[in-house]
Amino acid sequence: MKQRLHPFLNILPKGKTALRPRIYPRLHGSPCTRLLFTAPNTHRSRQFHKSLGPGLLVAVGLSASFIFSSVVHAEAPRKHDDVPQTRLIRLSEVEKHGGDAETQWITKGTRVYDITEWIPGHPGGEVILRAAGGAVDSYWDIFTIHKKQEVYDILDSYYIGDVDPSDLIDGEVPVDHIDNPFKNDPIRDERLIVHSQYPCNAETPTTELVKFITPNETFYVRNHMWVPETSLKGHTITIELPNGDEKMYTMEELTEKFQKVSITAALQCSGNRRKDMSEGSRQTNGLPWSIGGISNAVWSGVRLRDVLEDAGFPVNDLQDDVKHAQFMGAEAYGASIPIDKAVDKRGDVLLAYEMNGQPLPHDHGFPVRVLVPGNVAARSVKWVNRVVVSEEESPSQWQQRDYKCFGPNVNGNVDWSTAPAIQEMPVQSAITSLRDISCNATQDSGLPQINDLKGDVVAVEGYAYSGGGRAIVRVDLSADGGRTWHQAQLLKDLPEGEGGHKAWAWTRWRSVIPRHKAGKCFVVKAVDEAYNTQAGEYEPYYNFRGNLTSSWHKVEYRPGESEIT
Ligand code: MTE
Repeated sequence: MKQRLHPFLNILPKGKTALRPRIYPRLHGSPCTRLLFTAPNTHRSRQFHKSLGPGLLVAVGLSASFIFSSVVHAEAPRKHDDVPQTRLIRLSEVEKHGGDAETQWITKGTRVYDITEWIPGHPGGEVILRAAGGAVDSYWDIFTIHKKQEVYDILDSYYIGDVDPSDLIDGEVPVDHIDNPFKNDPIRDERLIVHSQYPCNAETPTTELVKFITPNETFYVRNHMWVPETSLKGHTITIELPNGDEKMYTMEELTEKFQKVSITAALQCSGNRRKDMSEGSRQTNGLPWSIGGISNAVWSGVRLRDVLEDAGFPVNDLQDDVKHAQFMGAEAYGASIPIDKAVDKRGDVLLAYEMNGQPLPHDHGFPVRVLVPGNVAARSVKWVNRVVVSEEESPSQWQQRDYKCFGPNVNGNVDWSTAPAIQEMPVQSAITSLRDISCNATQDSGLPQINDLKGDVVAVEGYAYSGGGRAIVRVDLSADGGRTWHQAQLLKDLPEGEGGHKAWAWTRWRSVIPRHKAGKCFVVKAVDEAYNTQAGEYEPYYNFRGNLTSSWHKVEYRPGESEIT
């Protein structure tokens, strides 16, 4: 008999686990039994959590379920003397084994698994419970990472039988037995430019990008999964300190105990303008965001620093081995930021519960999200329910992979651990409006007035933004593809000293160019207070994920047409 360790157990501290042997009938391959160890206690669950992260493991579990199915389903259980006959299970029976039942079953394809013993050792346990009592199929294509044989093997060991054929329609489990994980997703504004509906990825239209404050309905949405079911009364945030101490806060405690703070900050997805990189150099791997993967809002909430301090964390006396603040979202997303930023008095990191004076919309993290101004928006975890102060970064795939950049020569075959996770954003700008207007019309338009201007003009507007709270000091505009330059007028939308300790908001800019000087291509580049500026080309800055595209934004000028696409 061959002994196999549970593939995840090698990450657990030695001697801390009392392994429970389970004997499973081996349904594929040679008819022998398999000794498999499971990790049923909560301590181990926490170790999993810390080592791999909830999103990662949910992803592991769910993608595995599909893959396992697709890999082994073709091979029918062998009818061998010492192998039990396939057990046929009615769907009504599966339904009795939901999240609240004593034992949890799932179907994948037409196969049934009893995952009860897997759940306690599964840090994303609560998420996987969503699928219990039904089909896991609709979850798996959200989680496409970790397609590993060892993970297929885990699910393999929980196989208990096949769905009774009398319940199948055309050989498949009927759709009404398949849970829709997106059932809590809100109805969205039709003006959003949708790149994917489920999960929702939708950018702000250019007509809304010209506003200093992006209205909640047209603020871009970037969801990796579904919108979780959350409520004001039921939601809590747990703070976990390095010594293992935990303190939990209800929303009421959060809002009543701590000072309310408001900041004005832009959030920008690392994929903003990925489309430009693909078109300006080569195809990148990701959704083709144009210039609307960024928006600006007033965020109100409490300082993360204050809550950490209240929970017993010495915010003014950081120990060397405390390096990160990890955040977990209710649906399994996770990310982290350096602890220095988390506790910086002037860093303005919030647990935000209002957006533009309204409760956070569901898409944007209701009832509470982390807001990390100046950093890539991937760190502003929505629906946050847990903050862990730790030595390590978040183990989630969104921290360990994905949101990183490699050189232009590197293709997708990378060792992700060799690049740091993106935190602060580089300097960025874009043209959001290009309009032909008559010279007289500039008088009441709010556009910059140019005294000796004769004839018609092209009015140009846009945004500029830099990470780390670095203010925009200049925006250069060219009307002839970058040969000659003009300085655009920077708008002072925020009164001095408002909006937070640093320049977290975007800066709007405007310019007018005499029509006769307008060439075929308008170009913009911005400069921040550290004199960082944007590059002219795309190819030298290409990275296969298309992250952090910030090369000059170029817009073709067609006289008589004003819309930017
Ligand atoms: N938080 C959770 N829980 N789930 C997510 O999918 N997406 C991240 C971040 N926080 C995400 C999340 C990414 S990649 C971005 S760009 C921002 O949220 C988008 O925030 P928004 O949808 O409010 O614009």
